Amino acid sequence: MTTLPPLIELRNITYSYPGRTTPILEEVNFSICDERIGLIGPNGCGKTTLFQIIMGLLTPDRGEVLLEGMVMAGEKDFRILRRKLGFLFQNSDDQLFSPTVLEDVAFGPLNLGSTAEEAREISGRTLEGLGLKGFEDRITHRLSGGEKKLVALATILSMQPHLLLLDEPSNNLDPETRERLIAILRGLNQAHIIISHDLDFLASTCSHLYTIDKRRLIPCKEKQIHSHDHIHPYGDHPHQHGT
Ligand SMILES: Nc1ncnc2c1ncn2[C@@H]1O[C@H](COP(=O)(O)OP(=O)(O)O)[C@@H](O)[C@H]1O
Ligand SMILES: [Mg+2]
Repeated sequence: MTTLPPLIELRNITYSYPGRTTPILEEVNFSICDERIGLIGPNGCGKTTLFQIIMGLLTPDRGEVLLEGMVMAGEKDFRILRRKLGFLFQNSDDQLFSPTVLEDVAFGPLNLGSTAEEAREISGRTLEGLGLKGFEDRITHRLSGGEKKLVALATILSMQPHLLLLDEPSNNLDPETRERLIAILRGLNQAHIIISHDLDFLASTCSHLYTIDKRRLIPCKEKQIHSHDHIHPYGDHPHQHGT
């Protein structure tokens, strides 16, 4: 029996921002196959930096990023990697750049070689899957924050990535949109890594929890994800667990 290599593997990654003497990440080892992982940690501990390294947007001082067992040796390799990974930015305005929703969502498929007709069909299907049917001609910059977040998600899902990297996706969402996003993520097939401070959101969407502690990425021991049914005196008010 042959075992498949991990979808993404990090080997001994150390990264320092230019001009900084101490690295922000040190000797990071990690792999993901089909897991759904939550990543927590204080502001500034290097979570977004880690995503940028995985995507090849930052080059580590030392160490390697591997895609399906292949070491990514340079920009040419990372271009292949980026076709398989979908990176949802923390700020949707950084992700959306076209005048209309359709143009934004069709951009990826067109870039990957789809015809205009195919790209329109994929985009329509993706938007419908996210409950955004009829949004095609909406003006992107006029959407609400929650709508922008879902459209940004559509722009990466339309490329059918194998792994989703979601940077604080539930930030600033109203409770209804947050619940909708949870339901959407639970319904997807892809592996994902979600950066969030929202532990309930992670409990609903992830099975493993990691954190960055003293510049190293480690499985989170203090907080464990578990699901439970419960009754409490505050009705259906939003509440946090484990904080
Ligand atoms: N381009 C940059 N140049 C120098 N320092 C940076 C840069 N980007 C981020 N940093 C610093 O690196 C640290 C980690 O940033 P980041 O990965 O964004 O943290 P997190 O996502 O965990 O909040 C922070 O202290 C941040 O200020
Ligand atoms: Mg961040």
